[in-house]
Amino acid sequence: MTHPAFTPFELGSLQLKNRIIKTGTYEGMVVDGLPAETLVRHHAELARGGVAMTTVAYCAVSDTGRTFKNQMVMKDETVKPLRALTKAVHDEGAKVMLQIGHCGGFSKNEELGLKGPEGPSFGFNAYGALKGMMVTRKMSKEDIQRVTDDFRRAAVKAFEAGFDAIEVHIGHGYLLSQFVSPVRNKRKDEYGGSLENRLRFPLEVIAAIREELGPDAPVFAKMNLDDGVKKGLHVDDAVLCAQAFERAGISALVLSGGLVSHSALYLLRGDRPLRAMIEVEENPLQKVALAAFGPIFVPKTPFEPLFFLPMARKVREAVKIPLVYLGGATSLDHLAQVREEGFEMIAMGRALIHEPDLIAKYQRGEARESGCVPCNLCITEMDRTGGVLCAKQPWQLERREREVAAGMHERPAGTSA
Ligand SMILES: Cc1cc2nc3c(=O)[nH]c(=O)nc-3n(C[C@H](O)[C@H](O)[C@H](O)COP(=O)(O)O)c2cc1C
Repeated sequence: MTHPAFTPFELGSLQLKNRIIKTGTYEGMVVDGLPAETLVRHHAELARGGVAMTTVAYCAVSDTGRTFKNQMVMKDETVKPLRALTKAVHDEGAKVMLQIGHCGGFSKNEELGLKGPEGPSFGFNAYGALKGMMVTRKMSKEDIQRVTDDFRRAAVKAFEAGFDAIEVHIGHGYLLSQFVSPVRNKRKDEYGGSLENRLRFPLEVIAAIREELGPDAPVFAKMNLDDGVKKGLHVDDAVLCAQAFERAGISALVLSGGLVSHSALYLLRGDRPLRAMIEVEENPLQKVALAAFGPIFVPKTPFEPLFFLPMARKVREAVKIPLVYLGGATSLDHLAQVREEGFEMIAMGRALIHEPDLIAKYQRGEARESGCVPCNLCITEMDRTGGVLCAKQPWQLERREREVAAGMHERPAGTSA
């Protein structure tokens, strides 16, 4: 009998050959805001490795949506190199999704200049403070409309670039999640206060995207089950959010959690790689702050397999739309369990950074477990020149050196001879 994670699945026009999605894990393979050649290699390899769909992580919908300088941003010039990427993935027999988002008030992008980052409410920008961007500016209704239009444009361009699906980032404390979260949203107008009001902006973004793309385009949303902080969003409200996104016409929900600015490892669990975090930090002040306060600001969060499953079940009971389970799914048995519990798809991150061909190995019967430990060193590797890899895999470290030496990291995709 075919393993339940390896059966095909249809989601409107999106035909997946199995149920496994490589989730978005920021790659750090960008040159001047454009995808680099290494990004194409990265996703083609994942596609060859057996996943049904790979997700290109975090493409900002506008310049103001970048967490830091040189993140990918959706512009006219981004479409052509992205086409090289989507073609390479399709040639390997998989589908490809683009995560589109806006960082909101959580940015250390000095290009934002005096205006600084923008968010639901005026507040302290801990992430950028030591780079001189102490505060987040409160967005006006015109700002909300502008960013809604940026999401609309970015969604259209993603499909122009050949993506099979988009994932709207409404989780992890990025802008739309900042509006949903009571920790970040202190507004007194129709965008703040009740959950209904806090959901208004994300729902307007979904409506704008649907208006532009029609009802059938595969539009995923990544949302929080819990913010991972006491005064944040918790699962009972997350269930109501999921129902609102279902009514708004989202094709599938990817369930995650945590606010990167407040509970950095909540969405990952596992080791806290403080020493490597200090090493890759470029800003000397930030280095000192991390060394002194890292253990306080980055609390320990032990890893457990399928760590979001108890909360994800509550959403499963409350909505009918397809759900993507995410968080600590590593072994063949985990994949079976999650499918048996009614989740149509399963997303995996670190296990596939560790072994991009893990799914093919599972399918060939060559493995049943992932070798990922979760050391979380990959979250620091994405900040090194050449981009994300598993620091425990010498072959990946050697390859990155070769690719950097060959200039692949400095060439936009699709520009080599
Ligand atoms: C190196 C790395 C980078 C990540 N970058 C992103 C990102 O850009 N966008 C996002 O939504 N989640 C990001 N995540 C979170 C993952 O999507 C996922 O939620 C997390 O890894 C848990 O899944 P796992 O247990 O299968 O690894 C990142 C995770 C890692 C390890």
